[in-house]
Amino acid sequence: MTDFSATRARFRLPEGVTYLDGNSLGPLPVGAAERAAEVIAGEWGAMAVAGWTRAGWMEAPTRVGDRIARLIGAAPGTTVVGDTLSTRMYQALAAALALRPRRRVVLSDTGNFPNDLYMARGLLQTMGQGHELRLVAPEAVAAAITDEVAALYLTHVDYRTGRMHDMARLTARAHEAGAVAVWDLAHSAGAVAVDLAGCEAEFAAGCTYKYLNGGPGAPAFVYVRPDLADRVRPALSGWLGHESPFAFDLDYRPGRGIERMRVGTPPVIQVAILDAALDVWEDVAIADLRARSIALSERFIAEVEARCEGLTLASPRDPAERGSQVSFRFAEGFAAMQALIAQGVVGDFRAPDILRFGIAPLFIGEADIRHAAETLGSVLAERAWDRAEYRQRAGVP
Ligand SMILES: Cc1ncc(COP(=O)(O)O)c(C=O)c1O
Repeated sequence: MTDFSATRARFRLPEGVTYLDGNSLGPLPVGAAERAAEVIAGEWGAMAVAGWTRAGWMEAPTRVGDRIARLIGAAPGTTVVGDTLSTRMYQALAAALALRPRRRVVLSDTGNFPNDLYMARGLLQTMGQGHELRLVAPEAVAAAITDEVAALYLTHVDYRTGRMHDMARLTARAHEAGAVAVWDLAHSAGAVAVDLAGCEAEFAAGCTYKYLNGGPGAPAFVYVRPDLADRVRPALSGWLGHESPFAFDLDYRPGRGIERMRVGTPPVIQVAILDAALDVWEDVAIADLRARSIALSERFIAEVEARCEGLTLASPRDPAERGSQVSFRFAEGFAAMQALIAQGVVGDFRAPDILRFGIAPLFIGEADIRHAAETLGSVLAERAWDRAEYRQRAGVP
């Protein structure tokens, strides 16, 4: 049984803050700053360029990738870290389309994170082969998977509402129709149980700065199904994905397996921070995490609904259809979130009217849930949000 009071002690949470924003940026894990300092002084400082070999910097992206693989139901050797999620989605979709050269439709949904759609459009435009990015409502995806579809391209958990697609069912449906499945796990990795091997999805990618607590700008990860890893064509054919980067051949030859999804120089210090952040997961069973996430989310919904009349639940009521966040709609949502933050309860706001609360059981407990609901209740009851200063929009919401 996972000990969540022990995991909580492994984070440095900001003083006086109830932090329900781990779905945006996870807090600082104990040991991460020390690990970064060690890499900077003990490796970079002491070894300079020799660090690439002596400190294992070059292998770190696949070694750390294996640690993430365990959390997303993937086998070792299938996942590599580096670059950003934007890049990884581009790369995964490009590889998916190359596997279905005669099909011309990329199917996604209107709840997808807009950036994934921007990246897809950019790719399709660059390819110039007449591909269509077809968007349907999230609940209409299954029925829209026809034999025109080359790639199903979805975000598993909706960033605004927390609505969760049935990954196994949709992937199976895609395969029946002869399509390839590409999943964005930004709000899934470290948040819900994911079984990539079990559902046989071809590609997945995610970020590590949310529930995996890798820090601002932490590298993304990409997964390729093992039977395809030696076949996929890397659209971003960078030298570190080359079979032999230091041969400096004029021709590109893709590396073995997941190595070919590497692009350029890895962000060594960020990878080391992520590595330290992943230590906490060694003692965590994903099934326990999910059970606790559901219990805390149910409690939060009940406590908020008992106190806050003007809010409506934007997340699915059925926990089986929800990721690890709870969202409410409120017309003055932006101002309400600012007022809440001013009182030490940190969630965030997503346009047009969503108050978003991340439920990260590694460091959030019942007392935080109760306190957050009570504070939200009083912010609304006293109209504490109704001040000009809370309506001013500046910086990152
Ligand atoms: C679902 C989803 N995809 C992609 C991204 C963006 O990725 P990047 O790390 O490249 O900014 C985010 C950022 O929050 C996200 O929520």
